[in-house]
Amino acid sequence: MSRDYERQTLGVRAGQARTEFQEHSEALFLTSSFVFKNARQAAARFAGEDEGMVYTRYTNPTVAMFQERLAALEGAESCVATASGMAAILATAMVHLKSGDHVVCSNAVFGATIQLFNNILARFGVETTYVSPTKVDEWRGAVRRNTRLFYLETPSNPLTEVSDIAALAEISKRARALLAVDNVFCTPALQRPLELGADLVVHSATKYLDGQGRVIAGAVAGPKALVGDPMTTFLRTAGPTLSPFNAWVVLKGLETLEIRMRAQSAAALELAGWLQSHPKVTRVHYPGLPSHPQHELARRQQGAAGAVLSFEVKGGREAAWRVLDSTRLVSLTANLGDVKTTIVHPASTTHGRISPEARAAAGISEGLIRLAVGLEAVEDLKEDLNRGLEA
Ligand SMILES: Cc1ncc(COP(=O)(O)O)c(C=O)c1O
Repeated sequence: MSRDYERQTLGVRAGQARTEFQEHSEALFLTSSFVFKNARQAAARFAGEDEGMVYTRYTNPTVAMFQERLAALEGAESCVATASGMAAILATAMVHLKSGDHVVCSNAVFGATIQLFNNILARFGVETTYVSPTKVDEWRGAVRRNTRLFYLETPSNPLTEVSDIAALAEISKRARALLAVDNVFCTPALQRPLELGADLVVHSATKYLDGQGRVIAGAVAGPKALVGDPMTTFLRTAGPTLSPFNAWVVLKGLETLEIRMRAQSAAALELAGWLQSHPKVTRVHYPGLPSHPQHELARRQQGAAGAVLSFEVKGGREAAWRVLDSTRLVSLTANLGDVKTTIVHPASTTHGRISPEARAAAGISEGLIRLAVGLEAVEDLKEDLNRGLEA
């Protein structure tokens, strides 16, 4: 399908390949292998001379449809699907780093990403330096002769700090390092890192790409030379590929991505404004608010501010837990990116394993609450949160 269509259209249509039955909806190919016409064809497929299907760890038509649709949305030449978001990050590192290499990473990335760099990749001789997601000079200063990768998430979780992708891309290019951006919070509906100079986009498709909290999935998008060829080879050999069923679920999720991201961002903006004027709330972190330190950058870089916000309540942990325990509608769960609003207390869950001092230094206060706004009526969400805030 031509990439000239609007993104909204690409989300609904790109990548679809119909079978001889001319099914209207994308087919789910729940098969582990594919049958060859004869021995000659089998040999040609194994030799890579015939592009047909072989085995689902290698290729699968449903997975291919998902890859192509996401590539179209990110404006990428190619995309590979992975078993999870963490598998996407692992594949990025395994393909593009080797022993002796150095990584510069935002200090506000997902906890498991930090564990991957510190506890696993470090054992294979890859060293990581952590810097502020918003201080461009720290990235410049951290570059070494052997720096091969810049890695960040923007906006960050849970404080919604916004990194300047274009400025960091300039620095990474000068350093001959790749810039990989985890685009989970914005998705291509709101932000396209490749257009801003990033080399790779990483996704936990578990979040907004699925959008309804059903499956674990991931993907990496970028140029063919960095993604299609080397990553496909890695995934085929190492095995963390995406199951066709999960690919089908996420593929269908992409059809409503644009409209969900717009609606959920609008709801988050309304809730952020309401929370900011609430007497029991001391601070709201949301890039859509003019009070956010990177509000102007977010306006330039993103199509909307996204659906995740965090806020601090008076009274510390006790008051925050009261808000969580008083909800009857929003879900107290670790996931985000769902049409059902989710709430979490970072200091005692997602950031519970780090020391109180490190938590405080990272800005994760005891009164901080993260909210990932879904598609319920905003009035119902306000009432649900207000119960605990007013208690
Ligand atoms: C920003 C971000 N990146 C990556 C991941 C990892 O994704 P997955 O759980 O699909 O492995 C998560 C999971 O919460 C995330 O929030």
